[in-house]
Amino acid sequence: MREATPKTVYLKDYTPPEYLIDEIELTFELDAERTLVRSHLSLRRNPQCHSECVTLELQGEELELLSVAVNGEKLADTDFVITPEAMIIRRVPQDKAFVVSIENRINPAANTALEGLYLSSSMLCTQCEAQGFRKITWFLDRPDVMTRFKTTLIADKNRYPVLLSNGNRTGQGDLADGRHWVGWQDPFAKPCYLFALVAGQLECVADEFITMSGRRIELEIFVEQHNVDKCAHAMQSLKNAMRWDEETYGLEYDLDLYMIVAVDHFNMGAMENKGLNIFNTKFVLARPDTATDSDYEHIEGVIGHEYFHNWSGNRVTCRDWFQLSLKEGFTVFRDQQFSGDRTSPAVKRIEDVNALRTRQFAEDAGPLAHPVRPEAYIEINNFYTLTVYEKGAEVVRMLHTLLGSEGFRKGCDLYFKRHDGQAVTCEDFIKALEDANGVEFGQFRRWYAQAGTPLLTVTQHYAADAKQLHLTIQQSCPPTPNQPVKQALHIPVKLGLLNQDGSTATVRMRDNSATEVTLNLTETEQTFVFEDLPTQPVVSLLRGFSAPVNLNMERSLEELAFLLRHDSDTFNRWEAGQQLACQIIFGLMTDLQNGRALQLDEVMIDAYRSVLSGSFDDLSYQALLLALPEESYLAGQMAVIDVDAIHQAREFVKTTLATRLRTEFQALYAQHHRDESGCFDAGAVGRRRMKNTCLSYLSKLEIEDSYRLATQQFQTARNMTDQMAALAAIVNSYHPNKADSLESFYRQWEQEALVIDKWFALQASSSLPNTFATVQALMRHPAFDMKTPNRVRALIGAFSQANPVHFHAKNGEGYQFLADQVLVLNELNPQIASRMVTGLAQWRRYDPERQALMKQQLQRIVASEHLSKDVYEIASKSLA
Ligand code: TRP
Ligand code: ZN
Repeated sequence: MREATPKTVYLKDYTPPEYLIDEIELTFELDAERTLVRSHLSLRRNPQCHSECVTLELQGEELELLSVAVNGEKLADTDFVITPEAMIIRRVPQDKAFVVSIENRINPAANTALEGLYLSSSMLCTQCEAQGFRKITWFLDRPDVMTRFKTTLIADKNRYPVLLSNGNRTGQGDLADGRHWVGWQDPFAKPCYLFALVAGQLECVADEFITMSGRRIELEIFVEQHNVDKCAHAMQSLKNAMRWDEETYGLEYDLDLYMIVAVDHFNMGAMENKGLNIFNTKFVLARPDTATDSDYEHIEGVIGHEYFHNWSGNRVTCRDWFQLSLKEGFTVFRDQQFSGDRTSPAVKRIEDVNALRTRQFAEDAGPLAHPVRPEAYIEINNFYTLTVYEKGAEVVRMLHTLLGSEGFRKGCDLYFKRHDGQAVTCEDFIKALEDANGVEFGQFRRWYAQAGTPLLTVTQHYAADAKQLHLTIQQSCPPTPNQPVKQALHIPVKLGLLNQDGSTATVRMRDNSATEVTLNLTETEQTFVFEDLPTQPVVSLLRGFSAPVNLNMERSLEELAFLLRHDSDTFNRWEAGQQLACQIIFGLMTDLQNGRALQLDEVMIDAYRSVLSGSFDDLSYQALLLALPEESYLAGQMAVIDVDAIHQAREFVKTTLATRLRTEFQALYAQHHRDESGCFDAGAVGRRRMKNTCLSYLSKLEIEDSYRLATQQFQTARNMTDQMAALAAIVNSYHPNKADSLESFYRQWEQEALVIDKWFALQASSSLPNTFATVQALMRHPAFDMKTPNRVRALIGAFSQANPVHFHAKNGEGYQFLADQVLVLNELNPQIASRMVTGLAQWRRYDPERQALMKQQLQRIVASEHLSKDVYEIASKSLA
């Protein structure tokens, strides 16, 4: 918990470590309440560091010291100092290597922050990224200190039969008094944030993988007994990821063993500890009847993500935490490519952009905006953000676009070869891409340093006599905290042209001609000229969302409908539909605000009718074309967010489409509905997605027919996708069987924590009346638990982040509720508490009354006692 004023760490203050730790020998005598840690650190001065200082400062927090020795000689109390954050040894040998030996005690059962060594259900596990190792023992807890780990785990054999750590098993044996030991050794030097151990009663699901060079790798997934039947998909995903990284990046796995452990209590999605990934159960466990198609997709994505970190993160790691996007942005890019290749590149891209625009763009436009490579932090855990991850991935994607796949691959090859075994910077990554391709990305580097979402304003002029199209693009970027003035960025803008009949027009610029070009926008304003155009073409701009920017370009509804029919770029085709819907919804909001009766433009109905009657190989894509922009996306487009108007206007559009296109929705529902057990293949996934989209529209009609459809599907579903979609249709309408259905669902799935999370989240995100009372009642439900992050996210997270209408209730009850929970969580789990504060961070975007109410709660949080650094940083920066 926080000292008086938490201090800020700056990138500009980086200095190399004064000491290095070549090796650590760690012994744990594991016990839920009293774990003993013994460590021997082999230290030496860093030859690159010439400071005069003779002291050694090791980081350590919340540790009970038993003894400390240097080269075997126990230190006297006067030889060292212990502060809340460090151990400072006054004098250590300077001219030769030396060994520091420490014994300390920790209490995993008391660790509700889930950082360091903690108890999850009955197993012991660790989470060390970013700075959790210092809660296990004193160490140089920074990623540029890379150490070879030898670990011995000792524990009661009945309670902890399985004992795991990084690398290879080197030995094991029984001890007196019912205990046993297992030895582990990791041949690769690594930063301590990649250390892990697990102990518990775990079952192992095993398989193997033969690498491209013919090595046999053992694959092991460890879960609690009752989850053994939910590991098949994770295992298959792992094998897919291993093969994909070999084929796409030429990267092979390096140890003989790859282990994954699934735990119920986890602050994030998963962790790439060397050879021993630890996962939130949410991203491992799946069975057709318990997990939805989107769960299956997320599992494959996260399994891939952690696996890909073995190279982009572990073999080549970060010099300091400001470089976090070096591993995270790159690895997210890699997992996005992987998922796209595995499923549908078009659908995956749309989903990623949708998430980026609704969530990261909001972060980038608010008080917590920061560059992909931040310059300062109070608590690094607060910087595992959408900007570092998702915008970071977009920056890597732009580099990929600029170099082409082959050039990008050459660059990556050089990066991994040049920096294998090193802790490096974002600059090193770009440099490798440049050197391998003989290009320079001077201006492009600004993407790493400059926060905020650029805005492109586009105007066009068609000169009929010269048969030319002049396209002028201006770029600007709004100010962000500490960055009032912005510089022009290098923005790749992919473009295609369509003839009036919808066919592709050739893009001719001076001497090159193609069906598609990537324009290099580097100045504040630039005009591009396209030749040889006998008639005015329709411009398809920013294809594939080639840069993370906002686009301002005047378009008629007819032009958007035209692009929705004809654009050959799958992303832009979808985008045209989104912009069409946005324009219409905004028009309706104006009508609402002026008390005019609402009427839906026929253009919209025709456009949707043609999507419904179109023939699509990829039904998931067709379903996406029918999905209205989310309320949070619409909110992001407004100067002052009016949650009620957004909701009303959007609901009106959805209901009207359902009314007018009822026959089409019903027919497509019938066509694609199957009673299938839920195998996860593209065909079945697409059918379900399409069918459930129809169901969601039909449920807006509030008629007996739709109620019957939902009930039938709910009762007969043999897969969670269909069961959940039906329950959602029931819960989000005035369906007469709502209470019964929720009750029977609960009883059916009481034993499956991940399904019960869905049950909480669904109710918490309903926009129907009385939801706040439901949420309050659910807080008292016996299955609710503040110490389980998944449960907290399901209830408090869903209510504050996925229920704009009720969270932003005019009387402020939603805000007060959230602040109350943040203060409770602050004592238990600062990381989760601070994630929950983000619901209040966007307060400046609302009307004055709501602003005042939100601000009041933020002030109340900042003023409270025992505030963690995590919560303090987010709450105080939100107010600044
Ligand atoms: N490196 C993890 C990833 O793959 C992120 C992570 C897992 C994490 N657990 C964490 C970050 C706890 C901070 C704290 O993205
Ligand atoms: Zn990651």
